[in-house]
Amino acid sequence: MTTVKPDAVMISLEHIVKTFPSSGEGVHAVKDVTLQIRTGEIFGIVGFSGAGKSTLVRCMNLLERPNSGRVIVDGVDLTALPMRALNRERRKMGMIFQQFNLFASRTVLDNVMFPLAHTGLSRAAMKKKAMDLLAFVELSQKADAYPSQLSGGQKQRVAIARALASDPKVLLCDEATSALDPQTTSSILSLLGRLNREMGITIVVITHQMQVVKDLCQRVALMEEGRVVEEGDVYDIFANPREMVTRSFVESASSGGQVREILRDPSVRKVVASGAKVYCFKFLDSSAGRALVSSISRAYHVDLSILQANIEMIDGRSLGQLVVTAEGMAENIAAAIDYARENGVEVEELKHA
Ligand SMILES: Nc1ncnc2c1ncn2[C@@H]1O[C@H](COP(=O)(O)OP(=O)(O)O)[C@@H](O)[C@H]1O
Ligand SMILES: [Mg+2]
Repeated sequence: MTTVKPDAVMISLEHIVKTFPSSGEGVHAVKDVTLQIRTGEIFGIVGFSGAGKSTLVRCMNLLERPNSGRVIVDGVDLTALPMRALNRERRKMGMIFQQFNLFASRTVLDNVMFPLAHTGLSRAAMKKKAMDLLAFVELSQKADAYPSQLSGGQKQRVAIARALASDPKVLLCDEATSALDPQTTSSILSLLGRLNREMGITIVVITHQMQVVKDLCQRVALMEEGRVVEEGDVYDIFANPREMVTRSFVESASSGGQVREILRDPSVRKVVASGAKVYCFKFLDSSAGRALVSSISRAYHVDLSILQANIEMIDGRSLGQLVVTAEGMAENIAAAIDYARENGVEVEELKHA
C-alpha cells in the first residue's frame, strides 16, 4: 500500500482547449476543460462517442498539444517543457487502448521489455523485470507467444504489463475494455483495481460504459460536446445525477434503470389507472427506506405500497431504491413526498412515456 497525502493532485488540467483544423471554423473537440485528478485515485471520464474524451486524455500526456491551457502532472507543467524534458516526464504516464497496440512481430516478453530498451538495465535485469510484470498480470506462461496467439483479454494484460514497465505514476486507459466481453472486462477491471491498490498508481479511465465507472472508479466526470458537464464522487453521481446525459448513463448501469419497466406490468397499470401515483425513492447509505415508507404512510394517511426494492453497492457504499405506489388525497401525498425529501430521500415521480 502506498500512502499519499489526502487530496494531493496528480494531474491538473487548466482551461484546456483543443480545436482540430478543418474546413470552416474547425472541430472544437475540447472546450475549456478544467479538471483535477487526485494522487492514487481511479478517475473515470464518461461520455458518448465524439464527446472529446480521447482528445482530452491525449492532452494529459501531450500526445495532443492543447491550443491553450496548462497540463500539470505531478507538479510539473508539461506545457512549458522542452521536448527532451517532456519525454522524461511522459514516462511517468503509461497508456493502454481499446485496440491494445501490441507489436505483432514481437513476442509477449519482447513487447513488455520494449520500454526498458534505453534504461541502461542489463538484458538479464530487463528480462527479470518483464517476467515479474508478466507474473503480476498472470501471463508468465505466454512469455514466448506472439500477440496473434492471445485472446483479447490476454492482449490487454500484455499491454498493461508493457505500460507498467516504465514504473509509471499514472495509467491512462482509453476504452481499454470496450472490445472485450463482460467477463473479460471484469477481470481486466479487477487487475486495474489491484495495480491501483498495490502499486499506488493513479488511473484515468475513459469509457462510454457507465458500468465500468460503477465497478472501478471513485470519481467521475461526464463530458458532452467537449465540455465537462458534471463531476463528482461516483456514489453521489449515481445517487443524484443532475444533467440529462448523466441520468442516461446512470440508468444504463443501475438496476434502477429498469424502474420504468415496472409501469408496463399489467397489475401495476391497473393500480395506476385507478388514480395511484408511482414514485421512485432513493436512500443513501442505509436500508432505512422501508421504515420511513411505513412511518410516512401512517403520519400522512397515504397508502404506500412497495412495487420493487433493491440495494446496490457503489464504491463500497449502499444505495437503496424503492418503487412505490401512493394512494390518498393529493395534498397528503404531496406533504408525504415533501417530508421524505426533507429526510434526505431523493424522490422522483414515474410517469408513462
Ligand atoms: N485528429 C483529429 N482530427 C480532426 N478531428 C478530430 C481528431 N481527433 C478527434 N477529432 C474530432 O474531435 C471530436 C472529439 O473526438 P474524440 O476525442 O475522439 O471523442 P471521444 O473519444 O469522446 O469519442 C470528434 O468530433 C472527432 O471527430
Ligand atoms: Mg474515444
